[in-house]
Amino acid sequence: MSLVSNCIKTRNKDNNPIWIMRQAGRYLPEFRKIREKNPDFINLCLNKELVKEITLQPIKRFNLDAAIIFSDILMVPFGLNQTVEFKKNYGPILGDFVLDKTLKVEENDFECSLSPVYKAMKNISKDKSLGNKDIIGFVGAPWTLLVYILNKSSPKNGIDHKIIEDEKYINQILNILIKFLKLHIKNQINNGATVIQIFDSWAGLVEDKGLENLVYSPTHELTKYIKTFNVPVICFPRNIKNYRNFVANVKPDAVNIDYSVNPDEIADKIDIPIQGGMDPKILLTDRENLKKEAEKYLNVFKDHPYIFNLGHGILPETKIEMVEELIKIVRDFK
Ligand code: CP3
Repeated sequence: MSLVSNCIKTRNKDNNPIWIMRQAGRYLPEFRKIREKNPDFINLCLNKELVKEITLQPIKRFNLDAAIIFSDILMVPFGLNQTVEFKKNYGPILGDFVLDKTLKVEENDFECSLSPVYKAMKNISKDKSLGNKDIIGFVGAPWTLLVYILNKSSPKNGIDHKIIEDEKYINQILNILIKFLKLHIKNQINNGATVIQIFDSWAGLVEDKGLENLVYSPTHELTKYIKTFNVPVICFPRNIKNYRNFVANVKPDAVNIDYSVNPDEIADKIDIPIQGGMDPKILLTDRENLKKEAEKYLNVFKDHPYIFNLGHGILPETKIEMVEELIKIVRDFK
């Protein structure tokens, strides 16, 4: 069953589907094995056979309720001809961004360079082992991509606000991003994505006065567009101060909360389906604590359509047994 899209579309409160952010990743020995032989991360994301294999790894191992395509939000800057590299124990490093060059990128060239992603999506959607489980396609939100494009690495210590001072320049980049993100979304949906998630990992860096122009309006452009396909859209504006205002302005079909959010408070404030919340570090503790914390979310959202997930990506040091335990806790919960 397509439990995730069903929960969102029908607002079903009776069961809690579960999938995990970064479920196809480094905590899985079978992923690490492939990764060792493929040191270039972008090339790995462009290998349609391996993308399919990695996407299905967590489904085969845990029978999770949805697959998320193995890819990266930085495939879009890559498709716009900015160089993107992933350095071990550091994260992504991007090359210089040149607006004039980016303005010349044609839709056709972008689609050609990302075509392996779409072919992989198609092959995953045809794979029998998936049954009719949802396939989640995704993009980075325009703001988060703007941050990577101009900061050229993860803004772990915040950003220099000088890089976003020139409003005209920023709006030009946001408009290019919106155009190509729509194209990337359309191609994922046309090749089998049944849900789209928008990751705005750095939404928490935006001050109140910038929210409308940098977060709400560009992301709303995408949610409006996704709705024309009748495919549910989940937004994850990580660390945003006010989720209620975000939901009112961006109008996603569901929202993923981060672990700084108090679930008790949010349950009354938001009336759309909620996903996620639990701190991924809980999976590094013990079974008893895991049960207590997971059931906290399940209890709070008992009368709310709720998709179980985490408040950020699963950590590479997570033990497989703890993931198995979590899934059991969620499925046994009555
Ligand atoms: O969820 C999934 O399993 C699907 C695959 C997926 C990846 N990245 C694969 C990946 C998804 C949905 C993403 C999203 C992504 N990528 C985000 C948004 C979510 C978030 O974490 O905030 C961001 C900000 C990125 C950019 C990115 N990609 C960073 C900062 C890093 C390095 C840090 C890290 O976690 O390793 C990556 C690399 C990356 N993307 C890996 C994976 C499995 C690790 C690559 C490796 O093996 O070294």
